[in-house]
Amino acid sequence: MAMAVAIRRAGSTASMRRITAGVGLRSMSSWWRSVEPAPKDPILGVTEAFLADPSPDKVNVGVGAYRDDNGKPVVLDCVREAERRIAGASYMEYLPMGGSVKMVEETLKLAYGDNSEFIKDKRIAAIQSLSGTGACRIFADFQKRFRPESQIYIPVPTWSNHHNIWRDAQVPQKTYHYYHPETKGLNFSALMDDVKDAPNGSVFLLHACAHNPTGVDPTEEQWREISQLFKVKGHFAFFDMAYQGFASGDPERDAKSIRIFLEDGHQIGISQSYAKNMGLYGQRVGCLSVLCEEEKQAVAVKSQLQQLARPMYSNPPLHGALIVSTILGDPELKSLWLKEVKGMADRIIGMRSELRENLEKIGSPLSWEHITKQIGMFCYSGLTPEQVDRMTKEYHIYMTRNGRISMAGVTTGNVGYLANAIHAVTTTDSS
Ligand code: LMR
Repeated sequence: MAMAVAIRRAGSTASMRRITAGVGLRSMSSWWRSVEPAPKDPILGVTEAFLADPSPDKVNVGVGAYRDDNGKPVVLDCVREAERRIAGASYMEYLPMGGSVKMVEETLKLAYGDNSEFIKDKRIAAIQSLSGTGACRIFADFQKRFRPESQIYIPVPTWSNHHNIWRDAQVPQKTYHYYHPETKGLNFSALMDDVKDAPNGSVFLLHACAHNPTGVDPTEEQWREISQLFKVKGHFAFFDMAYQGFASGDPERDAKSIRIFLEDGHQIGISQSYAKNMGLYGQRVGCLSVLCEEEKQAVAVKSQLQQLARPMYSNPPLHGALIVSTILGDPELKSLWLKEVKGMADRIIGMRSELRENLEKIGSPLSWEHITKQIGMFCYSGLTPEQVDRMTKEYHIYMTRNGRISMAGVTTGNVGYLANAIHAVTTTDSS
């Protein structure tokens, strides 16, 4: 408007050009001039710092990404075989908004059980998601749209991105007790108190297994108690299951928490991901599901989930979904996958014992029992942020400042070096 008036007043074409050029220049350089750099991501920022370090001694136990015993990223044999079968096929068309129907079907079986009555009765609204992050984000948006007055209860601590996801979906966050820093285990009584004190019908985020970052899970009995209390309170459980298979080595066993909630008649939501258990990190394959009362409701919910996805990314990518459906749809490839998941989980369990043994052998006066008690990809070491800073500065060992060690990055080659560094920073003053 102001520009139009200026142009009218200026009259001549030459002065009009001068004005529009001036406006163009100003707008090109102005409105984002005051944008400050965003803070580094507490997890992915560690990888950036690791990559920038020229030291030959450097070790990355920051990001939760599996490595073999030589510290190399792994492509599973089942994935290689699935890719071989896919290669050359004509498959570049768009997927539907809800993603690959076959992949979603197979994925639901992993969470709800092969013979789940909920799958048979078509009571589950489910879409392919951009891995676990995408599933959580679509769910958070769904929560905001259809239950705008609700909050999300998040455990302390949790995966740092959970906070970002629900913040950006504009869902207010509350926290509940989870980890006990002294026992380095679960603070079960405080957790139950928080569940009890939350207003009836609250929405809770639960880690289905291999809790990130603590590696501390409730026992089966404790899950039963949590589920019962959720029933009494009418709470809704949203499970983030990013590590199915990584806790026990058996995806079926790792779904126990979810099965308990299903047995107890809860309507739950689940985020699933193939980043870790199939090593498909960069393929971004996952699934968001919401269990409904009946089929008609599931159809409606699914259509709304799709509608949330459409303006965000339209429809999900194809290649990773094809890999998953090829593996899970073939009994031979599926059993190879199960073997390989167990192999990854077992290597991590072995490294836990070695790290603890090394620390004990060096003569550390501290207890390191929690290293072998915790499960999944992470060890919540108990190192303070200052000790972590020393690990990085003095030993070129990269980990998140909350003291989390990605056990997937520990190898027979670096476990001794890691133990020495932990011993040094926990028993001596900064050099
Ligand atoms: C992690 O916790 O390290 C992984 O889930 C990777 C990520 O995206 O943060």
